[in-house]
Amino acid sequence: MSSFDFAPMPNAEGFFGSYGGQIIPPELKAIMDDIDRAYREIKDTEAYRSELLELYKYYVGRPSPLYYAKRLTEHCGGAKIFLKREDLNHTGAHKINHCLGEALLAKYMGKTKVLAETGAGQHGVALATACSLVGIECEIHMGQVDIEKEHPNVTKMKILGCKVVPVTRGTATLKDAVDSAFEEYLKDPVNFFYAIGSVVGPHPFPMMVRDFQSIIGEEARAQFLEQTGELPNYITACVGGGSNAMGLFTAFLNDESVNIVGVEPAGKGLDTQEHSATLTLGAPSELHGMKCYVLQTEDGEPMPVHSIASGLDYPGVGPQHSYLKDIERVDYTSITDQECLDAFMTLSRKEGIIPALESSHAVAYAMKLAPTLPADQTILVNLSGRGDKDADYVADKLGL
Ligand SMILES: Cc1ncc(COP(=O)(O)O)c(C=O)c1O
Repeated sequence: MSSFDFAPMPNAEGFFGSYGGQIIPPELKAIMDDIDRAYREIKDTEAYRSELLELYKYYVGRPSPLYYAKRLTEHCGGAKIFLKREDLNHTGAHKINHCLGEALLAKYMGKTKVLAETGAGQHGVALATACSLVGIECEIHMGQVDIEKEHPNVTKMKILGCKVVPVTRGTATLKDAVDSAFEEYLKDPVNFFYAIGSVVGPHPFPMMVRDFQSIIGEEARAQFLEQTGELPNYITACVGGGSNAMGLFTAFLNDESVNIVGVEPAGKGLDTQEHSATLTLGAPSELHGMKCYVLQTEDGEPMPVHSIASGLDYPGVGPQHSYLKDIERVDYTSITDQECLDAFMTLSRKEGIIPALESSHAVAYAMKLAPTLPADQTILVNLSGRGDKDADYVADKLGL
């Protein structure tokens, strides 16, 4: 076994090193263990696997293309930039990959309602979509601030037949939406299914969501080898909770030659209180049922966080990312709101691809890295979603 062998993660208790686990009351632990059991029972059955794989192919449109961004590369100079086009999935982001898996699991388990939080609304739309397809009730909790910013996604959720619950407490953003959805879930955890929107929360969610998202890296690795004959020198993705990043990174963790970089939101600057760079500036603690890096205030409360990208402003992060940081397999860096906006506009105007503000963080990092590398090097960026939801907001902000 090489030092880069990551296959058996997490352990049976849901730990990635010392991170993860189930920091929840015993009644809830029994329910999480049920979900874990059900998932392990069905995940490799022919019926579940073929249903999911067929949906990925004929409903989502997988495999998503791997695209060489020639004009962006010429603009930046240096290394070649490739984009894994998760923005082209049905519903416009990577979130549909795990939502279909979770909705099918909820249905197999005989649950009556699927609940979740959403930040940018991508997870909400993807889950509402998966629930209409599978035929199960769906309820999404969303911060009032995000509702106003991401209104096209709110409308879509309503059209899809989902109940949208506005959350006005706290900063009225993602963490508050998680708290609110979780309270609703606790009213009947036996019949409800909390479909967590990232690789966060108590075990088995960080593992399950990663498994569903791993298709991104599996496809990208094979496509990259086919198109270039080699593996990429760098791979990168934005990190909110960390699902699209784990989806890309998992297939490459054992490839020692591949440098892996996760990109967090530096918001208005790491020297301000208005960022969400959890792995860069946080410390190991507990949040939402798991042990992970957390941004905290001096009295130990989760810090009110900020990012221009609603899907990235979370004060915690997936336990596997916390582990990968500590063992230094993945480097974590950050990109400011302004750099993100610049990348949003540059990709739109150089390639005709309008990226989500979340994904623009990874694009911005690639744009900074490329000119520092020789032209024979390559960077693979996970373009986790498209920017339709952000278009009006950016146009207003830039006075377009
Ligand atoms: C397009 C897109 N990318 C990335 C994210 C961040 O989530 P994660 O870090 O789990 O991939 C979101 C969250 O809403 C999103 O909508």
